[in-house]
Amino acid sequence: MFDAIAGEYDLMNRVMTMGQDQRWRRFVVSRISMPGEGRLLDLATGTGDIAALLKKEYPRAYVTGGDFSQNMLQFAQKRFADTSIDWQACDANQLPFADNTFEGVTFGYLLRNVDNVPQVLTEIHRVLKPGGTIVSLDTTPPAKNVLYPFITAYLRYGIPILGRMIASDEAAYSYLTGSTMDFYKADDLATAFTDAGFNNVEFKKFMCGTIAVHWGVK
Ligand SMILES: C[S@@+](CC[C@H](N)C(=O)[O-])C[C@H]1O[C@@H](n2cnc3c(N)ncnc32)[C@H](O)[C@@H]1O
Repeated sequence: MFDAIAGEYDLMNRVMTMGQDQRWRRFVVSRISMPGEGRLLDLATGTGDIAALLKKEYPRAYVTGGDFSQNMLQFAQKRFADTSIDWQACDANQLPFADNTFEGVTFGYLLRNVDNVPQVLTEIHRVLKPGGTIVSLDTTPPAKNVLYPFITAYLRYGIPILGRMIASDEAAYSYLTGSTMDFYKADDLATAFTDAGFNNVEFKKFMCGTIAVHWGVK
């Protein structure tokens, strides 16, 4: 599915989020704290936006962008050909990196797509150095407040229609809606981070509570 939507992925992101998506990615990068040098991994890097922001913020760091979709990685490579980011095919369930490798691991919209969230969090914990930071950006089910009917209408009807018009793939964007509604609530995801061994876990919500950034320390 991700191979199929890679070509229109960036445009769809900008339209669907009304131009907000880069702001959330910048917030992800702002949660990382490390000296100028070291290793950073942006997992599920897709077309590479978070990896590129990491490299801009930490030009002396060795930044790896990892994803299991070859098409996504090809777009990332083309878009950021002028950077020294190391693009690598990898599966978040079983990362091809040694224990205690990275100062920071970021990922945007990964966990909603995996079968076993605790397993992936444990794998990320393994490759982080002690003191390293994990930062996740993902959609989150909206709270049942006065905005709920409008938000769910946008998720159920608006996004799949945009998916059909822009990416010619209504099914992929209906999947986005379904996987958002079925995903962990932000509080529960914070608990999953803690259960996987992370400390100082916090989160912040965006876009009427439909997007959450979680972070913690190994
Ligand atoms: C919605 S895209 C997000 C891309 C990017 N992080 C962003 O901020 O736009 C989700 C990405 O996760 C990747 N992905 C999903 N499951 C994965 C897994 N188990 N291992 C590695 N990458 C995975 C997909 O190939 C896709 O590129």
